[in-house]
Amino acid sequence: MSGPRHFLDLGDCEPAELRRLVARAAALKADPDAEGRPLAGRMLAMIFEKPSTRTRVSFEAAMRGLGGAAFALNSSEMQLGRGESVEDTARVLSRYVDAVMIRAIDAGRVDAFARASGVPVINGLTGRSHPCQLVADVLTFEERAGPIAGRTVAWTGDGNNMACTWIDAAALFGFELRLACPPPLAPPPERIAWARGQGARIVLAEDPVEAVGGADCVVTDTWLSMGSEPDARRRGALVPYRVDDRLMALAKPEAVFLHCLPAHRGEEVTDSVIDGPQSAVWDEAENRMHAQKAILLRCLE
Ligand code: CP
Ligand code: NVA
Repeated sequence: MSGPRHFLDLGDCEPAELRRLVARAAALKADPDAEGRPLAGRMLAMIFEKPSTRTRVSFEAAMRGLGGAAFALNSSEMQLGRGESVEDTARVLSRYVDAVMIRAIDAGRVDAFARASGVPVINGLTGRSHPCQLVADVLTFEERAGPIAGRTVAWTGDGNNMACTWIDAAALFGFELRLACPPPLAPPPERIAWARGQGARIVLAEDPVEAVGGADCVVTDTWLSMGSEPDARRRGALVPYRVDDRLMALAKPEAVFLHCLPAHRGEEVTDSVIDGPQSAVWDEAENRMHAQKAILLRCLE
């Protein structure tokens, strides 16, 4: 393959490559010094068009842990915020740093940046997807419950960027995904069609009870993603999709609860579930750092 090794969507990788990323993340978690400091002298720029806690800090910690350096840029404080094009920004940053991570509202801007970039570009969340999160999520599930292939994951709530990335993951990691979303907030049909075309088993459930029943993993996310406008009707439609003890009890007794965070406690998930014994959300947040080490190595080696 010629050109920089971007990480823009899970679908850019072959299943075997994604499995290698998860395995490498697990190995680096077990022994952070296992690979020494392979990124010594390398630098990552991180551009944020939206807020972040986990992505920002875990990428910086990952780069430093591998011997490199990272710095964060708020797009509103860059010339990007005054109309300089993403392409020109990419051409310039490529002269200074070894890789760029971008969090953008519009996925098209990340794609345009990557096309113009001379260095690898990593998608740090867009309205379309959050692929770094899914590498961490698969690692987290497998730590608790073993291989995800052939298992059942239930998504309940907004059919947002995270739901769409779980759809991609169902195709690439080989698990069944049951989606329960209010019809107006369902993920784009073409995304589901793509995954089914890859052989994924995607079930569109009538309601959260059907989706969660007997599942190995229950996942949800905020009802209001960054860039969306607050809307009382949308909130009302999502109330029946909240993950509470009653819903969680329908999954397998050993089922794992995941949430990419930040959580809006009392909305999409109750305190009792997110703080309960089935919740793996703190491991999931930690695993962002290990997953990103694997992703950075893939892009930079
Ligand atoms: N899960 C996640 O990406 O969190 P941040 O928005 O804090 O980066
Ligand atoms: N769906 C959320 C995920 C945050 C990590 C958002 O886009 O805001």
